[in-house]
Order: sequence, then structure tokens, then C-alpha cells
Amino acid sequence: MKKLINKGFRRKARLLTLLFSVPCSLFSGMEFPLTAMRMYDIIKKKRDGGVLTDEEIKFFVEGYTNGRIPDYQAAALMMAIYFKGMNDHETSMLTKYMAESGDMVDLSSIPGIKVDKHSTGGVGDKTTLVIGPIVASCGVPVAKMSGRGLGHTGGTLDKLESIPNFKTSISTSDFLEIVKKVGLSVVGQTGNLAPADKKLYALRDVTATVDNISLIAASIMSKKIAAGSDAILLDVKTGSGAFMKTIDASIELARTMVAIGERVGRKTVALITDMDRPLGNAIGNSLEVIEAIDTLNGHGPSDFTEICLYLSANMLYLAQKGSIEECMKLAKDALESGHALAKFKEMVAAQGGDVSVIDNTNLFKKSPIVHEVTADQDGWITSMDTERCGIASAILGAGRENKDDVIDHSAGIVLKAKTGDSVSKGQVLAELHTSRSDAVRTAEGMLKQAITIGPNRPPVASLIHARVSIDSIEKY
Ligand code: URA
Repeated sequence: MKKLINKGFRRKARLLTLLFSVPCSLFSGMEFPLTAMRMYDIIKKKRDGGVLTDEEIKFFVEGYTNGRIPDYQAAALMMAIYFKGMNDHETSMLTKYMAESGDMVDLSSIPGIKVDKHSTGGVGDKTTLVIGPIVASCGVPVAKMSGRGLGHTGGTLDKLESIPNFKTSISTSDFLEIVKKVGLSVVGQTGNLAPADKKLYALRDVTATVDNISLIAASIMSKKIAAGSDAILLDVKTGSGAFMKTIDASIELARTMVAIGERVGRKTVALITDMDRPLGNAIGNSLEVIEAIDTLNGHGPSDFTEICLYLSANMLYLAQKGSIEECMKLAKDALESGHALAKFKEMVAAQGGDVSVIDNTNLFKKSPIVHEVTADQDGWITSMDTERCGIASAILGAGRENKDDVIDHSAGIVLKAKTGDSVSKGQVLAELHTSRSDAVRTAEGMLKQAITIGPNRPPVASLIHARVSIDSIEKY
């Protein structure tokens, strides 16, 4: 009797399964289990301005990561999201499933509050090389997974690899050991960190769907959450060299990312910092490392030093080292005492790098060609198109157009004047460093187009525009 009931029940269950595998658009308005979901309906729902359910977002992220959902359907959904947007809950769920699509790094064996930092990318942005050592030398462990440069922006890994023998690809256990012993390690992302983002970012890059706040927020925060730190400082760049060209759009991106971080229990703060001019004077890999070493020695450019101290103070604040003012003092002391420089050397040695180049930066490989770009007129530099400066540096060999391009670590630009400086005709504006003689004229033309010289002194723009936390948005 019991067997008969079971048989009847199984037959009914088979029938139900069959029914539910029929395309669900035939049953609009009904709730279905995951097996009945179709990518077609998810795209259509978003195209028509609907709000996706958690299950639909999960279905998409899992299906796209494991290859069941093809690129053309994922691209259609990205475009629908681009035009119709996502609400905060949808964005959080997209982030969560993207973070969970691969390895979640476990940093719990490292004592203390671990603080990560992420920059949305810029030109001359070498802050990690200075901030990491400052923060670690104040006793806060920094376990940092960084990226490579693409397009006009540089990447920390490429910069570090200009130090002879420095290894950015090491095992997770060695990475954790170095953070425990030195307090700081900077490595490349493990192969399986947020693989959904890896696929989606490559797809967005070629389908004109990068610059959407929900998609950028989910992309960045999925990697940060998977990377395992307890607290996250976001450096959201704004201006001509950034993804976000206006302060309001940058604040909105920051607000979205802070909300996501806090929702998953990571203390998160964002600073909106200026990218309307390159940061510091050096653009290009070893040139930027040399500038970072100069800064750790106490004689870096003032704009770069100021931003590094402010970012460091906020990381120390997130690690509960005191008020922002107290943390600023800690950061300044770490720089002035030489402790931060010593910490940088320790990390370089632990990752196999040749520390002699830190003691004597003349030992870095030099470009065979150094060409001076001069001003065509007297006046004031009123603005700089930062993206064009980055492209000029890439043309000289410092960047990649495609991800497999090989970069020239010694190539790049050293700026001799920036926005707000007065210049006279014939004065050197920049040095171009390269081994490509055929690239010099093009890069020079690009850089000259990027620098506007006018008759009037421009107003001095602030380096830090705003600070966004879960409780407040402070504009400076
Ligand atoms: N950086 C990322 O990691 N993702 C984006 O979508 C944009 C910038």
C-alpha cells in the first residue's frame, strides 16, 4: 500500500517537473522553480523596466559563469541594465552572487582588522605603493590583490614588476605568510577570484556597457568582498582621467558601493579624489615606482603626498586606530620616521624583489630615448585632459591596448608642469621616456593636445572632493 502511494506520488512529481520545464512565458504571472527559468524572460523583464528577483540574478550569474548562458544573452542583459538600471537591492544581489562565483579568500588566520583599498583607476595613480607601507608600518595588516593596467590607466602589478625579480604571482599560503610576517603583501588576483566579474567585465568592455553605476559597483565590490578584508577604503576618482567625469556621478557610485559593503558586514568608506590632472608627476611603471620611493623618502610631489596621507589616515581610521586627526598624525609619523620606507623594502624582499633599486633608484633600467616637450606659448596651464596624458604614455610603451600586449617598464612621461603652473614659451613641459623612436611624435602631439595654456591663472581645484560613509556625505 505504502509502495503504491509512493509510486503515484512519483508519477505526479514527474508530471509536474515536465510541466515546469515548458517555457515559463506561457505561464506569465506564476512562480516557478529555478529549473523553469529562462534567460530570455529575464532579459525581457529588465528590458521592460522590471525588477529582477534574487533567483533570477542568481540564475544569470551562475549560468553565465559556467558557460550555460551565452555571451549574446549576457550582453543583451547588460545593455538592458545599462538603460533601465538596477535598484540597490538588485545591485547588492548581483554583487553577492558575483563574489560567490569563485574563491572567497579567508584572512581569518591573520590577527587584527584587515583593511583593503581600491582605486577606480587613474593616471599616475601609484598610491598603493605608498599607502600600503604607511598603513602596515602602523600595525594594520594589508593583504592586497591588485590588477594590471588597461587602456589609459595603469595597474599596480605592472608597476611592481618593474622592480627586478619582484613576484606578483605567489601561492595563497605564501601570500598569507608574508602578510603575517611583514604585515603587507601585494599580489595579482588568484585565478578564481570572482570569475563572473572576469567574464562580465571583458564582455562589458566590448559592448559599451562599462559606465553604469550598478555594474561598476557590483564589479568592484564583488572582488573586494571575495578578497576577504574586514574593512574597505574606496578611492573613487573623478574628472577627465576617470570613469566618472563629474563629482555627482562619483558620489553616487561611492554611495552605492558603501551601501553594498556595509550590507555584507564590511566597514566601508569612500573618498572622491581628483583625476582632472595626473596624480604626481610620473606616469609609467618604473617612473612611478621611483616617484613612490621618493615620496617614502619624504620628497615626493606635494599633491601625491597629500592624497597618500589622507587615504592612509582613512584606512587607519577603518582599522580603529583613532579619530581621522589621530590617524593623520600616525600616517605622517610613519612617513617622516622612515618606517614606511623600511616596510616597503621588507615587502619587496619577501616577494623576491631586488631591494638595491630602492636604495639607489638610478639602478632602474632607463629608456634609451628621453625627449623634451616644450611650451609653444607663455601663459598658465589652465587644464589637462588626463585621459590623453595616459594614452600618450601608453603610446610610448607604458600601457597595453590589448590584454596580451607586452609593456615597456621604463617607458612613460615625467611632467615638469601641471594645471595651475605658469609657463613660458620654450619651457620644458614634460619628458617622454621610450625605446620607440617612431612613437615620439605621436605621443608628443597627444600630450600637447592634452595641455591647455591660457592667459589667466586658473582657480586651484581641491584634491579631495568628498568623503562618503554609511552615515554621511561630506563635501569639501
Ligand atoms: N573597475 C572595475 O573593476 N570594474 C568596473 O566595472 C570598472 C572599473
